[in-house]
Amino acid sequence: MSESLVIPRNAGRKEIYEALVPQLNALLEGESDFIANLANTAAALKEAFGFFWVGFYVVKENQLVLGPFQGPIACTRIAFDRGVCGHAYQTQQTVLVPDVEKFPGHIACNSLSRSEIVVPLFGSNGEVIAVLDVDSDRLNDFSEIDAAFLEKIVRLLSV
Ligand code: SME
Repeated sequence: MSESLVIPRNAGRKEIYEALVPQLNALLEGESDFIANLANTAAALKEAFGFFWVGFYVVKENQLVLGPFQGPIACTRIAFDRGVCGHAYQTQQTVLVPDVEKFPGHIACNSLSRSEIVVPLFGSNGEVIAVLDVDSDRLNDFSEIDAAFLEKIVRLLSV
């Protein structure tokens, strides 16, 4: 296993994802522990892009419970019908929020968060087992490129 990531500097986000995905794949396929893999994925995304907050909420005890993350401390439990994370859980789809203030029910774990993307992870029966939440301190920071690559990345984590 490679011990450090090689991230192209001065590259666009798509190029960085293209460099990151095979390295993450190599890192994750050598480890079967779900939490360990969530932890390295959060760290890799933080290192590659410097996102304000990147982490996972795991389906547990009939709610979404904070899992491995990188960034400031965050809310620990989210009901299935609350926030952007709950919306992604319920719709089983990626949710792109260009301006968190315009998303009804958005949960502000940190007032510096301005835009957000949440991507569901699926288990072997097609059920949502966790969500990946990435927050930016800039408005409108996420696009379909992030959606496509983050969906690819969470597929590497599916159990
Ligand atoms: N904003 C999320 C809550 C999680 S934090 O941002 C880390 C939401 O509305 O679901």
